[in-house]
Amino acid sequence: MTIAPENRPLLTVHTHARGKRSPVTCRLKCNDACLHPAPNESANEYFKDVVSSVLSRRAMLGTLAVAAGAVVIGAQGAAAPSAAAATLPEGRFPGGGHSKGLAFGAIDPQPVDVDALVVPEGYTWDPIIRWGDPILPGGRTFDPDNQSPEQQAKQFGYNCDYLDILPIQPGDKHRGTRGILVSNLEYTNAEIMFPPTEKYWDVAADGSRTKNAYSRAIERAAHGMAVVEVRRRGTGKPWDYQRISVLNRRIHLGTEFVLDGPAAGSDLLKTAADRTGRRVLGTMNNCAGGTTPWGTVLSGEENFNGYFVAAGVNPTADARYGIGASTSYGWEADEPRFAQSAGYENESHRFGWIVELDPYDPTAKPVKHTAMGRFKHEGANVTLSSKGHAVAYMGDDQAFDYVYKFVSKDRVAKGDSRGARAHNKTLLSEGDLFVARFTGDSPAAEIDGSGAVPADGAFDGTGEWLPLVKDGRSKVPGMSVEEVLVYTRLAADKVGATKMDRPEDVEISPVTGRIYVACTNNSGRTPGNATEGATEANPRTHKVVGGVTTNGNRDGHVVEIIPSGDQTSTRFTWNLLLVAGDPAVEGTYFSGYPKDRVSPISCPDNLAFDAEGNLWISTDGQPSSSAIARCDGLFKVPVAGRERGHVQQFLSVPAGAETCGPLVDSRDSMVYVNVQHPGENGSFEAPDSYFPDYVAAGATVEAGDFRGPRPTVVQVYRDRD
Ligand code: FEO
Ligand code: CA
Ligand code: CA
Repeated sequence: MTIAPENRPLLTVHTHARGKRSPVTCRLKCNDACLHPAPNESANEYFKDVVSSVLSRRAMLGTLAVAAGAVVIGAQGAAAPSAAAATLPEGRFPGGGHSKGLAFGAIDPQPVDVDALVVPEGYTWDPIIRWGDPILPGGRTFDPDNQSPEQQAKQFGYNCDYLDILPIQPGDKHRGTRGILVSNLEYTNAEIMFPPTEKYWDVAADGSRTKNAYSRAIERAAHGMAVVEVRRRGTGKPWDYQRISVLNRRIHLGTEFVLDGPAAGSDLLKTAADRTGRRVLGTMNNCAGGTTPWGTVLSGEENFNGYFVAAGVNPTADARYGIGASTSYGWEADEPRFAQSAGYENESHRFGWIVELDPYDPTAKPVKHTAMGRFKHEGANVTLSSKGHAVAYMGDDQAFDYVYKFVSKDRVAKGDSRGARAHNKTLLSEGDLFVARFTGDSPAAEIDGSGAVPADGAFDGTGEWLPLVKDGRSKVPGMSVEEVLVYTRLAADKVGATKMDRPEDVEISPVTGRIYVACTNNSGRTPGNATEGATEANPRTHKVVGGVTTNGNRDGHVVEIIPSGDQTSTRFTWNLLLVAGDPAVEGTYFSGYPKDRVSPISCPDNLAFDAEGNLWISTDGQPSSSAIARCDGLFKVPVAGRERGHVQQFLSVPAGAETCGPLVDSRDSMVYVNVQHPGENGSFEAPDSYFPDYVAAGATVEAGDFRGPRPTVVQVYRDRD
């Protein structure tokens, strides 16, 4: 069987793909951050300077279960191209190990053009909900040829990222037969969303096209978050989403938010449309998140800069946050707030926050917490200190940016009564904000940028949480509390935080309380760079593959932080759990686990824990030729005992996609992921992916299906047929 020409992935040559992802994702998701100089030009100490001081669609692919070493099947049921397998030996990833929790045999890494979601033998997968599926009254069955802003606002939006499925009652420990699915909807990709017609595009004389106001309005309705009730017949069984439920909600650019915390009401947050500085319309670029112990969902407003034109009022801050003279979204043509024209100069200050949403109360307005600082929030995860303070850990996802921690002033109220929940929903409104400094314990000469482990056997050392706001007072010379919170990057520059390699998810082990930071990659950390070279916490500046040197930390790493005492402690020790990459390549590190038994892994992004304390890592950027040139995936890694460092690949996502929002329920033997930006390099008329509907060429497209890629919430479960 061969793949029909029209079904083959179209591999396009692009102008840049530095570091991680395709040019399309770079432009839409992070405003080409990798093409610009890193915005952190502070003279902060780099690690190097201080290092010596101490350290159904089961029909086709749903049933496709690929065991280690099995033949890889492409989307259309044909053998996938195998040439890309040349650099990585297949079938040597035994997986399973002796770690507790979900049992599976690791899958083989998949070549970049495999348009399939591949899961381990004995498992199958189904979509729960896809872009365009209706969730509100009046929402019609998705019709890709007849989209509208009104319909999109009643349907599941685009590019799902953070994901959780909460028990139907707050406080329930396990998911039963009803649940509440909450998903972020990060950004849009007009090229593959909209048909090539004048309804959606302005076409120039030379044939080039530009999104029109109608499609831009659809984009704004496709951003944000979704809350959807789900039901199933029993534990371990797949969920169906409920098209109508009182719990269902869509949050988008037109949804009203409350700004709270110390900066709310500040002049820095007022606009012509909101003289109070306490009300904002909308959220955007919602990336990762976290579910709080009191059953609310936090969502990180990440690359908000890409939606605003610089107002010129504070050029230093604009540069530090990457707000430029134009945007790729073009919404500045639609609303003055995106142009930041007269009266709206502060609009971009009203984005870049952590959002808190209560999925149990459909009438509760979502809140933006100014106490937690403003930066390109990947997400936030909360644990409780021994005395009941809420402690949140957060990454600022940019090359050479920082890791933050927030400690609530108040303590958690026990129980899930209405009064207790109301109190707990105020915990993130007031507290102390810190930024991390990491110090290595090995001589600088031993951190040579190759990733070679120093003589003491570990990339490790000590660290401290440097206060930015403490007891309601600014700890940053020359900056008020309001300024510290609105211009948090500038504040952190001043206190000597450690520049990291794109810190994304920061997750706390529910078993040990240790904290894990995914540093995705950093193409700018290069050899011989006096200020931005190798440090023990970011130890790689290059790699050599087949005699060819590639500069930068292309594969990322994972930092483990061990608080010195309680979670509120300002001191910690740290070490690197993983220095990621192809284990066959020098400069990778898997906590000493035998390299011939681990799955290749690159560009760690989102993190999750299972109940047994195993870390799960989803990746974003593996397909890049400068990474490991494999489809992105989801990986399990035990972090304790003899299995520590044993990376085992659980699933692989389709061509062009990134794996987001991992959720692992080992009690149910179920795993959930958001498949984001499948087929991102294609176009509506020439798709690069057919996931997840996989409508065959010439086949009738059933109502609600699409012969093209759809970002989708996926459930993976035991195949008991
Ligand atoms: Fe939206 Fe940091 O990835
Ligand atoms: Ca060391
Ligand atoms: Ca991410």
